[in-house]
Amino acid sequence: MSSPSSPEPTPTSDPALYPSRPATAADLAQIEALHDAVFGPGALTRTAYRVREGQPRLTPQCRVLFRDGALVAAIRFTAIRIGGIGGALMLGPLGVAGAHANQGHGRRLIAEGLAAATEAGVAAVLLVGDPAYYARFGFRPVPPGRIEMPGPVDPRRLLLAELVAGAGAGLSGRVSGGA
Ligand SMILES: CC(C)(COP(=O)(O)OP(=O)(O)OC[C@H]1O[C@@H](n2cnc3c(N)ncnc32)[C@H](O)[C@@H]1OP(=O)(O)O)[C@@H](O)C(=O)NCCC(=O)NCCS
Repeated sequence: MSSPSSPEPTPTSDPALYPSRPATAADLAQIEALHDAVFGPGALTRTAYRVREGQPRLTPQCRVLFRDGALVAAIRFTAIRIGGIGGALMLGPLGVAGAHANQGHGRRLIAEGLAAATEAGVAAVLLVGDPAYYARFGFRPVPPGRIEMPGPVDPRRLLLAELVAGAGAGLSGRVSGGA
């Protein structure tokens, strides 16, 4: 129930108007162009990109979302090891074209990607992002010092979601790309 002073609830992304599917190699150029447009040229220097360097550009959980055949949102996941233990993913980048932002597409791609990861038996998903946005999906700040990224990261933005209950407790150490 919303009162006159409360903000409008964010709309829900309609799969009939905005179909989504797993990303394929043929989508990669468009995905990268979208992410470059949304994040700008500085993004490649971010610590999260260091983890992705040298890793396959697609995992089965990467997804794309279209409107009238044009790509409007894309989410990527990369297989990672934490302290040498595999079975986790790093989420990102997630980008939604500006004209389509705040219409629920980001939330939908995250939910779909996490559902695919759960189905695949992924234990946990790590990301660097806004805690307020990602909390709704079960992402919580990593206890300080527990997980180490290969470069500087604001510890308040290093977030982990357990897809297997209790998986986070067994994860500590340095993050590297790899299954
Ligand atoms: C951030 C982003 C992925 C969100 O996806 P989206 O489809 O626009 O957003 P959704 O409709 O799923 O969710 C809307 C919610 O996200 C919040 N939101 C939008 N942009 C945000 C941002 N840059 N940072 C944090 N939260 C943001 C909205 O306030 C809204 O919150 P509410 O649900 O509590 O009302 C997308 O807007 C985007 O790609 N932005 C440009 C890149 C960017 O700024 N990324 C920041 C994270 S690295």
